[in-house]
Amino acid sequence: METANQNIKPITTKINTQGNIEIGGCDLVELANKYGTPLYVYDEATIRSMTHSYKDAFKTYPKMKMMFASKAFMTKAICRIMQQEGFGLDLCSGGEIYTAKSAGFDMSKTLFNGNNKSYDELNMALEFGVGTISVDNFFELALLNNIAESQNKKVRILLRITPGIECHTHEYIQTGHLDSKFGFDLTVLDEAIDLIFDEYKNLNLVGLHAHIGSQIFEKKVYFDEVDVIFKEIKRIKDKYNIELSEINLGGGLGIKYTDKDAPISVYEIAETIITSIEEHAKKYEIEAPYVFIEPGRSIVGTSGVTLYTAGSSKQVPHGRRYQAVDGGMSDNVRPSMYQAQYTVEVANKPDEEECEKVTISGKHCESGDILVKDVNLPVIEEGDVICFYDTGAYGYSMSSNYNRVLKPAAVLVNNGKSDIIINRQTYEELCASDVIPDRLN
Ligand code: LLP
Repeated sequence: METANQNIKPITTKINTQGNIEIGGCDLVELANKYGTPLYVYDEATIRSMTHSYKDAFKTYPKMKMMFASKAFMTKAICRIMQQEGFGLDLCSGGEIYTAKSAGFDMSKTLFNGNNKSYDELNMALEFGVGTISVDNFFELALLNNIAESQNKKVRILLRITPGIECHTHEYIQTGHLDSKFGFDLTVLDEAIDLIFDEYKNLNLVGLHAHIGSQIFEKKVYFDEVDVIFKEIKRIKDKYNIELSEINLGGGLGIKYTDKDAPISVYEIAETIITSIEEHAKKYEIEAPYVFIEPGRSIVGTSGVTLYTAGSSKQVPHGRRYQAVDGGMSDNVRPSMYQAQYTVEVANKPDEEECEKVTISGKHCESGDILVKDVNLPVIEEGDVICFYDTGAYGYSMSSNYNRVLKPAAVLVNNGKSDIIINRQTYEELCASDVIPDRLN
């Protein structure tokens, strides 16, 4: 069965009677007029179709713990949707923990990840009752045990391991290979376990965690990951006589940015994971564990689009045609950071012939601020609304104020209704943290 991550467009996308693109029953041109641009538009139906697919695909394995990797898109409204969908949250900073807590999220269903969690962040995690902490390194083991002791708590932990699996994705978003900043190398895992059992009495080791990478299209890496984790669980069982009962397989399922991408469906990944877990549990005579997964991109990526207004344009003599828009690398750094490709349409001209090859540039003072190169589009005029698909994950969450450009607003659309979920930043907010020291007066 197909799942929404295999579409380029949100599942509710169509051309309406005005001849414009609509998503969630809302005309994109009207949204651009009402809320201004750049604008992130999130289709609630697509988000929920993904959470439903995950729940359905894994329903034969009742010991699942589904967590949304909030780094992909974190706002209070998304926390609320995830809570309604029965998902937990994977959090990786004090800011994400704070957002979840202030959205009223059930903190027992959260997990805290990261390779350099600070004292303050761990302290906050324990105070707010974060459910599980994935400990990344020796430094953190000691720090966390001290904090837990001072709060008189016993903390559920996973150990993050580096499984030594390389996947075919951009180097910057591979995480499971051996030379990685994340996790315990398998050769030192027992040192960590010894410390937990012998010294760190406030830590309760419940399982192992790995994450291979992001924007993954292959099933096999998940099989390999389960294999590595089970071998460790079996080894630990034989050596320490304890059976770890929880495993975390991370996130990573890819989405379709352009026609060149062929991501697998949630059902395919679920089948691989469930079969490999059952096979391994049988082979090693280990009880089938609780299984965390932490998808981020595949839950929100396809649901989100970014709208821009076309501004200046330029034809380089004998060269490219550039069309500038009113945003760029500050609202979507992925093209300049990972050479990411996107599918683009003109929201007010979806049916017009794509007769012009154009390069869409951002407005930032940087030559590399190109959102997409050499795409065929209808002739673009000033004021046209340009729609970039698949910006729902790691767009807003990696946005910046480069050039002191304001962060865009985000709206959630559903059944013809649109609601602000992030207000457009204001110039007052932009300068709110700036201080002029007295001595400069
Ligand atoms: N769990 C862990 C421990 C992770 O590090 C990540 C992503 C996820 C889960 C979620 O992975 P996803 O399902 O979204 O692939 N900024 C990059 C992506 C970086 C991903 C970092 N970790 C991008 O824009 O492509």
